Amino acid sequence: MKKLFIKTFGCQMNVYDSDKMSDVLAPSGYENTNDVNEADLILLNTCHIREKASEKLFSELGRMKEVGIERKENGKETLIGVAGCVAQAQGEEIMKRAPVVDLVFGPQAYHRLPQMLKTAKHSRVIDTDFPEEDKFNFLPKAKKSTTIKRGLTSFLTVQEGCNKFCSFCVVPYTRGVEQSRPVAQIIDEAKNLVNGGVKEITLLGQNVNAYHGESGKSDVSLASLLYKLAEIDGLERLRYTTSHPNDMGEDLILAHKELPALMPYLHLPVQSGSDKILKSMNRQHTNKEYLNLIEKIKTARPDIAISGDFIVGFPGESDEDFEDTLDVIRAVAYSSAYSFKYSPRPGTPGAKMENQVPEKVRVERLAELQKLINEQQTLFNENTIGKIVPVLFDKKGRSEGQLGGRSPYLQPVHVNAPSDFIGLIKKVKIIGGDKNSLRGNLA
Ligand code: SAH
Ligand code: SF4
Ligand code: F3S
Repeated sequence: MKKLFIKTFGCQMNVYDSDKMSDVLAPSGYENTNDVNEADLILLNTCHIREKASEKLFSELGRMKEVGIERKENGKETLIGVAGCVAQAQGEEIMKRAPVVDLVFGPQAYHRLPQMLKTAKHSRVIDTDFPEEDKFNFLPKAKKSTTIKRGLTSFLTVQEGCNKFCSFCVVPYTRGVEQSRPVAQIIDEAKNLVNGGVKEITLLGQNVNAYHGESGKSDVSLASLLYKLAEIDGLERLRYTTSHPNDMGEDLILAHKELPALMPYLHLPVQSGSDKILKSMNRQHTNKEYLNLIEKIKTARPDIAISGDFIVGFPGESDEDFEDTLDVIRAVAYSSAYSFKYSPRPGTPGAKMENQVPEKVRVERLAELQKLINEQQTLFNENTIGKIVPVLFDKKGRSEGQLGGRSPYLQPVHVNAPSDFIGLIKKVKIIGGDKNSLRGNLA
């Protein structure tokens, strides 16, 4: 057996892709390892979303070069590959700047890995075309033993790419145009996961709620896909991420009310609360439209946990614009949220805009926004204390006799429980908690 080490940066979709790369390489005799020093093949699956994320690649490559040199001294060959969104955006530059790299390939080309590896033995490979064929048709099923090893919860990509072109974002350039997978292909993959013990599936897409079924047709929606998946025996919980407010259809909102397997949690980024900034971000909705939508969703499912993403310091953001963002946060009362300083990305319209906000202001605004979000997250968790919630136990806890699991609202919960409860959903009375997690007793 040859050893494969994959390091994953970025979003859940990269996590999913890394697993698929392992699946693609398994028939060629590769087996995953957590020890980079024993790896015959090292893959870095990269993220381009912000400058910091991108820079990580080059520092990591320095480290991998050392590993390669040491292995060579011991008579072992190492191939080093760069995958993911930096590979897609800066493939040529990586090849120039980092001679240590043997292969570079984008997020839509990794089904060709076995072929690329053959070529990489004698010459460097770069494959960043967006292929005609659908990579999903070429990805083998994960083996049952592999699925079991990966755990009780799983990601499943149903939609990829983005046509929205928010003016700050590189995703439409790194992932390509919006594409949805056929229903049958997804159901097959979900059944295979459930057969390997998976109890909870999170459907993934850059705009997952724009899911519309097989390309060329628009006969299914994300909601109808969720209903179909909920019929799979043994699949207990469904989630999906990330959604765009403009694709939040009536049927999807209704599903939150009527489909028991669909968890009461929704990641619905708004980025900013200022109409001026929303417009220049090309988000294509107003503050009011977002708040009305949240209202509607909360009416359908009053206990739903809302999460979001925010960018502070987008070009032209004034103190008042930033205040508008804080107001949205106060109005929505998030259960959690991710927030970022605006990072100008090459090739995006935002990077060329005047009125870039000084770094100092970005830092201050981020701290203020995060303080508010942290308060809300703590409050959300505290509000669960005293309640009885169903918890899916998915791993051993930190201390002896303890298990870890998730509430329907995605809160981590720690409970003293027998280890054979792993994989089961049990009622738990929440007795304590802080910003990050909850404690409870079996009810
Ligand atoms: N498709 C998702 C988000 C994908 S990127 C959506 O539309 O919401 C994940 C998050 O990274 C974004 O929601 C945004 O908050 C952040 N982000 C994207 N580009 C950024 C940039 N240039 N600078 C700072 N944050 C950015
Ligand atoms: Fe990026 Fe906007 Fe597309 Fe989300 S919707 S991936 S933020 S361009
Ligand atoms: Fe990063 Fe690409 Fe995901 S840029 S956030 S890894 S889609």
